[in-house]
Amino acid sequence: MRLIHQGLGSIGLGIARLALERGHTVVAACDLDPAKAGQDLGALLGISPLGVEVTTDAAAALQTPADILVHCTGSRLRTVLPQLEAAVEAGLDVASTCEELAYPWHHHPGEARRLDEAARRRGVTVVGLGVNPGFVMDALPIMLTSPCRQVNRVTAERVVDVSTRREALQRKVGVGLTPDAFQAGVREGRLGHVGLAESAAMIAAALGWEVARISEEITPVVGGDVVRGLHQVARAYRIEGGEEPAVVLDLVMAQGAADPHDAVTIHGVPEVHVVIPGGIHGDLATWAIVANALPAIKDAPPGLLPVYRLPLLHLTA
Ligand SMILES: NC(=O)c1ccc[n+]([C@@H]2O[C@H](COP(=O)([O-])OP(=O)(O)OC[C@H]3O[C@@H](n4cnc5c(N)ncnc54)[C@H](OP(=O)(O)O)[C@@H]3O)[C@@H](O)[C@H]2O)c1
Repeated sequence: MRLIHQGLGSIGLGIARLALERGHTVVAACDLDPAKAGQDLGALLGISPLGVEVTTDAAAALQTPADILVHCTGSRLRTVLPQLEAAVEAGLDVASTCEELAYPWHHHPGEARRLDEAARRRGVTVVGLGVNPGFVMDALPIMLTSPCRQVNRVTAERVVDVSTRREALQRKVGVGLTPDAFQAGVREGRLGHVGLAESAAMIAAALGWEVARISEEITPVVGGDVVRGLHQVARAYRIEGGEEPAVVLDLVMAQGAADPHDAVTIHGVPEVHVVIPGGIHGDLATWAIVANALPAIKDAPPGLLPVYRLPLLHLTA
C-alpha cells in the first residue's frame, strides 16, 4: 500500500519502519519540526535513502497519489480535526494515533458526526488506533466478552513503570513535579493520560450499554516530596445501572510502579480474567497495531469507525 505519513515523532517513525518492513511504500512524509524538514525519510529512520523528502507542507504531501494517511501528530480531536478532514477530502483512508479519535462519539459527538459524514461522502475509512486507547483497556476487554452470555461489569487495570519509558511520557504523567504543580497541570488539561474516558465509552458502546455519565479522577503518585507519576480512574455508569459503575478502568503510570501488568476482568457468565505480566509496551505495541491494521482499514466500509468495527486485527508478516 502507498502511505503518506503525517507526524514523524517516535510513534510515526516507528510505524513507518514497520510498514516498510511489511512491504508498504511511503510516498510522502510531513512534519512541522524544522529540524526534520528537507531530510530524506530514510535518514530519519536510520536506513538507506527512500527518495521521500520530509516537508512541513501537509497540503502538498496530501496531493501525492496514495492509499492511507498514517497520522501521528496529536492527542486532541479538536486540534487534529482539520488535518483529518484534509486527508479525507484528498480521498485517503486514515489510520490515526490521536487518542480522542479512538472513540469520539461520547465526548465529541458533533465532530464525530462531521468526520463520519465527510468520510462516507468521500468513500474512505477513518480509524483511531493504538495500544491505550485502542487495545489493552478497550478492544481487548471487548473481545474478551465474546464467550460470555451475560456481562454485568468490565474492569481493566494497567500498571506501567514509566522509568523504563521515554522522557516525553514521564513528563506527560507529571514525573518530577510538586503535587501542587501536578494538580494545576491536571486542572489545565496539560497532564494526565488522554483517552481513558474514550476507552470506557468504547466498551459501553460495543456492549450496547447506554451511558448516563463517565467520571474521571486523576491523582498524583508521590514519593518523597515529588510526583512520580499518576493514578487515573475512569468509570462509566449505565442509565439503568444504579450507583455501581459498569466499566472501571484503573491506570497507574509511575516511576518505579510495582508489578507492571495489564489485567482485564469480565464480570459475567462466565467470568473471564486475563493478566499480562509485565504489561504491553505502549510504543512498540502502537507501532505494530497500526502496521497490522493497514490491510483491514483498506478493506473496511467508509466512515469513521471504532477499532472494534474492524475485523479481528492480527499480525500478517
Ligand atoms: N493511542 C495510543 O495508544 C497512542 C500511543 C502512543 C502515542 N499516541 C499519540 O500519538 C501521537 C504521536 O506520538 P509521538 O510520541 O510520536 O508524538 P511526538 O513525539 O509529539 O511527535 C509528533 C510529531 O508530529 C509533528 N506534528 C505536530 N502537528 C503536526 C502537523 N499538523 N503536521 C505534521 N506534523 C505535525 C510534531 O512536530 P512539532 O514537534 O514541531 O510540533 C512532532 O514531530 C501523540 O498524540 C501521542 O499521544 C497514542
